[in-house]
Amino acid sequence: MNPKIAVIARVGAHRPFEAAGLEQLGVQVLETPYGPSRPLHFFRHKGLEFALLSRHGEAGYEISAPFLNAKANLYALKALGIQKILAWVAPGSLQEELAPGDLVIPHDVLDEGRGGPHTFFTGVGWGFIRHNPLFCPEMRASLLESLQGVPFKVHPQGVYVATTGPRLETAAEIRKFRVLGGDLVGQTLVPEVFLARELEFCYAALTYVVNYAEGLLNRPYQPGVLFEGLATPEEMAKVSALEAAFPELILKVLPALAAAPRACPCPRLLERYRLRGDIGEDWRTWVR
Ligand code: HPA
Repeated sequence: MNPKIAVIARVGAHRPFEAAGLEQLGVQVLETPYGPSRPLHFFRHKGLEFALLSRHGEAGYEISAPFLNAKANLYALKALGIQKILAWVAPGSLQEELAPGDLVIPHDVLDEGRGGPHTFFTGVGWGFIRHNPLFCPEMRASLLESLQGVPFKVHPQGVYVATTGPRLETAAEIRKFRVLGGDLVGQTLVPEVFLARELEFCYAALTYVVNYAEGLLNRPYQPGVLFEGLATPEEMAKVSALEAAFPELILKVLPALAAAPRACPCPRLLERYRLRGDIGEDWRTWVR
């Protein structure tokens, strides 16, 4: 087994693949200097091996975003020889045209959160890494291409505003994020994307909108229902339809993502520090 691509998804993401009868290659929890990783599930589909990790839990939503151990999960993927990561993420929308149940391939991030740890490079001199393009351009192009023809609206770009949860935003915060140029709001892509760059992964996100963000539309507060009334039953039905298509969407995009040649900047994000002799070839010596 030698998977080079991984999907970091949300909750119990291995189950629909198992239910679809995909060939299962095993499950592993890796011990890392940052603690244990989430379980890594390995599958093979038409000759393509891939790893799958659920950030928030195996059976249910066990860990909220600010308490995810992104460093342990990314360390484990790197240790396994993974080169590319597709992040499956479910943000809110800051724009009416990005509707619940739509797919968005974000191209940039506004970090408006207060979380950490944001770096593997604590207390050392390396890590001044350029962050434009933020997401792997090769993977983003491949996603756009392979999503042609899916029965969902696909938005080719979006600015993801990262906040620190687990609470949702105030209406004033959402108004501010719109002024700043945000399109989506969520709690999971940061610090994951920044940490992934420090390990020179190719990393791109495929997001699907789950709700209009607070205050964008007139949504009275309803205790006891999902999102307390922030999303309507019709919107939630669209989101459920998209979620049901998760395994097909992933299997549709993975072959081209895996085949992309890595002619992008991602494998050499730390080249300057290698050339300068600050870091060696073995990535395990870079991280703290
Ligand atoms: N805000 C923050 N995170 C989210 C939201 C939201 O509206 N929806 C899904 N994740």
